[in-house]
Amino acid sequence: MQSFTVLALETSCDETAAAVVGGAPPGPGSILSNVVLSQLEEHAKFGGVVPEIAARAHVEAIDAIVEAALAEAGIAPQNLDAIAATAGPGLIGGVMVGLTTAKALALAWNKPLVAINHLEGHALTARMTHGTEFPYLLLLISGGHCQLLTVAPPGEYKLLGTTIDDAAGEAFDKVAKLLGLPYPGGPNIEKLAAQGNPKAFPLPRPMKGREGADFSFSGLKTAVRQIVQQTEFRPEHRADMAASFQAAVIDSMIDRVNAAMTLFEAKHPSESRQLVVAGGVAANRAIANALGELAESRSFRLTVPPPSLCTDNAAMIAWAGIEHCARNAFDPLDVAARARWPLAPRQPAEFAS
Ligand code: KG4
Ligand code: ZN
Repeated sequence: MQSFTVLALETSCDETAAAVVGGAPPGPGSILSNVVLSQLEEHAKFGGVVPEIAARAHVEAIDAIVEAALAEAGIAPQNLDAIAATAGPGLIGGVMVGLTTAKALALAWNKPLVAINHLEGHALTARMTHGTEFPYLLLLISGGHCQLLTVAPPGEYKLLGTTIDDAAGEAFDKVAKLLGLPYPGGPNIEKLAAQGNPKAFPLPRPMKGREGADFSFSGLKTAVRQIVQQTEFRPEHRADMAASFQAAVIDSMIDRVNAAMTLFEAKHPSESRQLVVAGGVAANRAIANALGELAESRSFRLTVPPPSLCTDNAAMIAWAGIEHCARNAFDPLDVAARARWPLAPRQPAEFAS
């Protein structure tokens, strides 16, 4: 198949990122450059991402980041096949910065534009890193999303389950805040949990054993808050709480993925069983280990991209761009940025029984 080289911009949250990736589906691709400028410090003092600050920081950084990505890749603009950018979902001010810049570059360099759904970037990362063939079961666990989907030939995403309240990363971030840990909470909870007793605090396992493959995390967060606010709770109990919380998340998640595996097998009875994990929370080693054990017991091949490609980056957007190029799916220069953009609508009828 023809190979493509794509420059991509990602500005949907608090990372300003640009990357150049080459290759052809099903992958693996070659990452020629992958530049990520995190705004962590700007947001840390507010305990979360502040949209206005994010948009401004993207505007200030984007030109230099694009230049750095091209220079590092050692590629001249005329040798690119397309310019890709995240067009949503995300903080609209930030998305517009990246998408507008990509449009300007596409116009100036006379290259086609590809508008990418950020979630599709996460969903296809395993193809860029491991050349994973369709179909596969995808567990997408990030700061804004928590979903189980089947990913089949180009653009065919079917939702098996989603969170009915908080996303997985959001739960980590909120519990970290309750424990006085800095943003982003996920990595800090994981570090602290390693020194704690996961059985110290009895916490609920939301949705465990329920029909379907939906998630819920807000009850768990509330249970943590109630314990942390008691006067007997001391700073030295924080590691035990981090460990207990992480264990509860893992227990619920494993139950839900196990249920989704059964749905996947029913939908793809004759194809190989594959589980792919994506999104920032996939960087958590304890979660990845538990998923590894589950995958082995159900004879699923597990693929977890490296942590730097699980969290937000532009290489995954460039790869999704390559998949669009391969099927001639380009976008007009007036394509709109979208704050909300589900990858797959819910399909209750198909999976109800
Ligand atoms: O995919 P991502 O970089 O951004 C979104 O698109 O949301 O995910 C960020 C989320 C944050 O909530 C962060 O706390 C979480 O991923 N995260 C983790 C870990 N590393 C990042 N959660 C648990 N354990 C980790 N090691
Ligand atoms: Zn993301």
